[in-house]
Amino acid sequence: MASPDSYLRQDWQMVHGVPMVCAFSFDWDRIENFQSRPDDIVIATFPKSGTTWMCEIVDMIMNSGDTEKCKRDAIFNKVPMLEFAAPGKLPPGTEQLSQVPSPRLVKTHLTINLLPKSFWENGCKMIYVARNPKDVAVSFYHFDLMNSLHPHPGTWDEYIEKFMAGRVAFGSWYDHVKSWWEKRNDHPVLYLFYEDMKENPKREIKKVMHFLKKDLSESVVDEIVYNTSFDMMKDNPVTNYKMAPSAVMDHSVSPFMRKGVAGDWKNHFTVAQNEKFDDDFKRQMADTTLQFRTEI
Ligand code: A3P
Repeated sequence: MASPDSYLRQDWQMVHGVPMVCAFSFDWDRIENFQSRPDDIVIATFPKSGTTWMCEIVDMIMNSGDTEKCKRDAIFNKVPMLEFAAPGKLPPGTEQLSQVPSPRLVKTHLTINLLPKSFWENGCKMIYVARNPKDVAVSFYHFDLMNSLHPHPGTWDEYIEKFMAGRVAFGSWYDHVKSWWEKRNDHPVLYLFYEDMKENPKREIKKVMHFLKKDLSESVVDEIVYNTSFDMMKDNPVTNYKMAPSAVMDHSVSPFMRKGVAGDWKNHFTVAQNEKFDDDFKRQMADTTLQFRTEI
């Protein structure tokens, strides 16, 4: 069993060609052999794309907007992250999930090829949230600064290069969003966008409800919109990650609930960085119909 010292601030470990958080990379058999249940609901994203937001939305929908029930535990226990592990410190996500009653909500950042086969075989419903890569990069940079399970990100200029090259946790953002986009053609994947959720949360929450075949009244939907707003989730100890161990997440460096907007990248990218990023984006996204908005 690894000790925390052997994985805190360590470099990524390659798992089947994908850079993986070092702490998560131990005993990968636990992921490959994981058994899904047919009624599992998977919430999949590239990191920093609104995962926590969607997890809370789905938990509220499944609990018919009951705010008291939704306060039962921290978001990372209500919706365990499949690949999470911190050996010697916390139980792995696979173990947590084995104790959750059905229907389980499963959070993951895994690529299509790393997701356990059992989820595809069982035809589990999946909700994928994508966010424009400029805001993802800014958010991920701040997350790497505050999260000691990740290596230190270096300078912002260095970090953008790593992001474009896919040398960040879970690899290439470009491959991630494109492959999940293709997957919706042959699997029940509801593909949503962070920017659409910001623009009209009620409309997007209703899409999730219909996908999950939940029929809730307008007033309950309004309650869910209100309780999953950025300001409410930032103040809510269940959702703001303040319950996570401080040895892992240091909110004084950068809070987990940081800004929650579309377009913050403009405060970080220089003109030269932006031009280079745009050129690279065109090249890497030339083979997809997928479109992103970098502001709303
Ligand atoms: P920023 O760092 O840009 O603020 P994830 O949950 O995938 O790690 O994504 C975290 C990002 O989603 C952070 O972005 C966080 O602030 C934002 N976020 C979390 N809850 C949100 C909400 N209710 N509304 C808007 N953004 C939210």
